[in-house]
Amino acid sequence: MNEPYDLIVIGGGPGGYVAAIRAAQLGMKTAIIEKRGALGGTCLNVGCIPSKTLLQSSHFYEMASREFLEHGIDIAGLSLDLNKMMSRKQKVIDELRVGIEFLMKKNKVTYFVGVGKVQAKGKVLVEQKGKKKSEVLAADNILIATGSEVIPLKNVELDEKLVLSSTGALELSKVPETMVVIGAGVIGLELGSVWRRLGSRVTVVEFLTSVLPGMDLEISKQMKRILEKQGIHFELDTKVLDIQKKKSGVTLIVQKKSSEKEEKIKADVVLVSIGRRPHTLELGLENVGVGINKQGFISVDEDFQTSVEGIFAIGDVIGGAMLAHKAEEEAVACVEVIAGQAGHVNYSYVPAIVYTWPEVAAVGKTEEQLKSDGIDFTVGKFPFLANSRAKCNGDTEGFVKFLCDSKTDRILGCHIIGPAAGDLIQEVINVMEFGGASEDLARICHGHPGLPEAVKEAALAVSGGAIHS
Ligand code: FAD
Ligand code: NAI
Repeated sequence: MNEPYDLIVIGGGPGGYVAAIRAAQLGMKTAIIEKRGALGGTCLNVGCIPSKTLLQSSHFYEMASREFLEHGIDIAGLSLDLNKMMSRKQKVIDELRVGIEFLMKKNKVTYFVGVGKVQAKGKVLVEQKGKKKSEVLAADNILIATGSEVIPLKNVELDEKLVLSSTGALELSKVPETMVVIGAGVIGLELGSVWRRLGSRVTVVEFLTSVLPGMDLEISKQMKRILEKQGIHFELDTKVLDIQKKKSGVTLIVQKKSSEKEEKIKADVVLVSIGRRPHTLELGLENVGVGINKQGFISVDEDFQTSVEGIFAIGDVIGGAMLAHKAEEEAVACVEVIAGQAGHVNYSYVPAIVYTWPEVAAVGKTEEQLKSDGIDFTVGKFPFLANSRAKCNGDTEGFVKFLCDSKTDRILGCHIIGPAAGDLIQEVINVMEFGGASEDLARICHGHPGLPEAVKEAALAVSGGAIHS
């Protein structure tokens, strides 16, 4: 066995690779183990990046086919080259992956391709495909960042041809005429939008009574209306009882929760997007007794330490919001704690963004949460219809909504549906991080004409002072 590492990271996703870089920056001898054969994790390989690339490409296609004419741009004879769209997506992934590999080299992080297994405290076995002998690495600290995996529907195999997970839905070689999406969460709405824009008739079946559960209800209702107008059909409050596969497609047997009657929905393919679960298989946690909670997530304390001293965990595998930026924040905080610094993540201000068009972005409390917490709040809203830049761009759907403390005016939550909502929310988060009030934001000069002016106007509206509505 070689000289021990200060830190071994298992899992090369945004949690793992960011932790490895930060550890190296802080002077630790660091190794990272990734079994996929490529760094970047779910996010880069089968998650955030391929989905956002296809969302952008399909958005361009939709604009070209439905909106350009209004701008006086006639591109008759428009056609779709799905193959090329998919190749471009792969190129984006490959280029970003090379970038991460470069960063490993630059920071002198040793990269092992293989399955990492915790053998004992301070010992990690690396099983490499094709190699008869496994290698055992020693380390003072082990960091588990093995992420999450798709939750399948009970008794239904994800074959990635007819019954797809998000991974299969990012790889289709032809546009299905019809697609059923099970689950009106983030993946369902993003990937449902991609294929609807490219020509599929999309039906979303959701168990609950609203889309994007957990989001502010007004936002969720408005988003459903917008997506319906775009052509997505919703079956809410509906259970999927069975999926029957035939060569030509799938038949779903569904039932409204309020009714006894079973109904059938036929489609070429079905996307199962009902959530993700922690990925702890093959890790050998039982060897050292690392504690997991009822849902299977690794339990950690406020320093990201598991029940075993010297073994830490971050990212999707510890639960909470399953988001790449949350995993990255935890990575930096955890490694700083290991290095004796004061790492910390402020979970109150982690943004949630849905990259449909218009986008949805949220931070802080929803109206429903504030009501149930008994907090008095004031609402300030501003529609994009009254924002001059949105009007120029032809992107007037949606609004900005602030929720502020009635007594102190401190911003407690912000919820946006609108063009580039995911970018617009960032200035609100900055103000919130500094404990700011709507007046603080409203008194900042915003460039004209700009979409951020809608954020400023909504902040002004909290005290009834919006200028343009
Ligand atoms: P992961 O990215 O899952 O990485 C874990 C890595 O560990 C994997 O590469 C896995 O192969 C490896 N691994 C597992 N076990 C072992 C082992 N024993 N040995 C070695 N390696 C192992 N989040 C956002 O913030 N924005 C988005 O736009 C977004 N879009 C998404 C779209 C889709 C379709 C999906 C599925 C997810 C999306 N997410 C998005 C969520 C995001 O991908 C995850 O939150 C993020 O990747 C979690 O990072 P992580 O490092 O914890 O885990
Ligand atoms: P999700 O938790 O967002 O949504 C799952 C949906 O499926 C929920 O609405 C739930 O009520 C519904 N559901 C569950 N079981 C069902 C059933 N049997 N029948 C019908 N509906 C059912 O999970 P999703 O969309 O799979 O995404 C997984 C994770 O990936 C999320 O936690 C999300 O944070 C992350 N992600 C983030 C993105 C982003 O930040 N833009 C994009 C895509 C994914």
